Amino acid sequence: MELGGRMLWALLSGPGRRGGTRGWAFSSWQPHLPLAGLLNAKELVRHWTAVFEKRGIPEAQASSEYIVAHVLGAKTFQSLRPELWTQPLTPWQLQCIQELSSRRLQRMPVQYILGEWDFQGLSLKMAPPVFIPRPETEELVEWVLEEVAQSPCAMGTQDGPLILEVGCGSGAISLSLLSQLPQSRVIAVDKGEAAICLTEENAQRLRLLDRIRIVPLDVTLEGSWAHLLPWGPVDLVVSNPPYIFHQDMEQLAPEIRSYEDPLALDGGEEGMDIIIHILALARWLLKDSGSIFLEVDPRHPELVGNWLQSQPDLSLDLVAMRRDFCGRPRFLHIQRSGPQRGCPADAWPGPQPARVPG
Ligand SMILES: C[S@@+](CC[C@H](N)C(=O)[O-])C[C@H]1O[C@@H](n2cnc3c(N)ncnc32)[C@H](O)[C@@H]1O
Repeated sequence: MELGGRMLWALLSGPGRRGGTRGWAFSSWQPHLPLAGLLNAKELVRHWTAVFEKRGIPEAQASSEYIVAHVLGAKTFQSLRPELWTQPLTPWQLQCIQELSSRRLQRMPVQYILGEWDFQGLSLKMAPPVFIPRPETEELVEWVLEEVAQSPCAMGTQDGPLILEVGCGSGAISLSLLSQLPQSRVIAVDKGEAAICLTEENAQRLRLLDRIRIVPLDVTLEGSWAHLLPWGPVDLVVSNPPYIFHQDMEQLAPEIRSYEDPLALDGGEEGMDIIIHILALARWLLKDSGSIFLEVDPRHPELVGNWLQSQPDLSLDLVAMRRDFCGRPRFLHIQRSGPQRGCPADAWPGPQPARVPG
């Protein structure tokens, strides 16, 4: 994701996903026509930036630039051919910009307004309420890619790693790993029906469907791991799980609270509810010496480390932690040191299991 996108998220979401926009009132939108005399792209950006600023919309200029660029067929305002900045817009273009900007006034995230967003160089379809991939998650993907490149044997890369992603959302992590690891295969699970559909659609658009299994599954359900056995054991588990502490949920920006699925964000009292289930799944599904990569809250490295020490039966060790681009401890590498049980030696592609209710 380019710098503009990163800034948009940093300012929209505040620190981590715990943005400090509490108390911002929702604005009831009223039309902002007429736009008479505001006929070119630059003037419209200026106009809508001023409207957004007046209405307290975060990232006013970036939002208006993305919207105007999108209507003119570009990803960013800077990438528009300069002659389009000053060329008169058609009434239809003006109408589209008006319509999309009105959604921004209702605090809809720009990513949903545009209907697509870039992640690791892939253009992914976005639709509410499926979680919008954040720029820090690109760092998680980069870490996985580095580790796979550095220790190909440990990561099963002789034949290509078999990867399990828990909570695939739009498919951002799974699809970027598949596209950058040509030998890899992925099992992507999510409990949300909308997420499953969007991952499938994005996989199809990117022509990656033949190397991904998309499974509707709630990993907190008793014995849920058994539904994944036909494909395991896996070399890697990767997840950006719901990890926000429940009491922090109400502090999220209106953009997040109103449009994204709370089940994608709320990790329970200490943000550990889903993390614990992912770690427990490893007992059955992760190969000996296999790795788990997690994105977490800055308070989690200690909590997860302590929890793992209290569960020696899992034979999982926290072997490394990484910081995000803001310097916060946000990523964990956990490794299995004991024998895996449960899966046949290597069953991919195996049969398609029955759909499991989410
Ligand atoms: C923070 S989002 C991450 C989405 C995507 N991986 C990304 O990084 O953009 C967490 C995802 O976990 C899914 N999820 C939440 N609880 C789950 C559960 N019990 N079992 C499986 N998936 C779950 C949510 O539906 C959501 O798509």
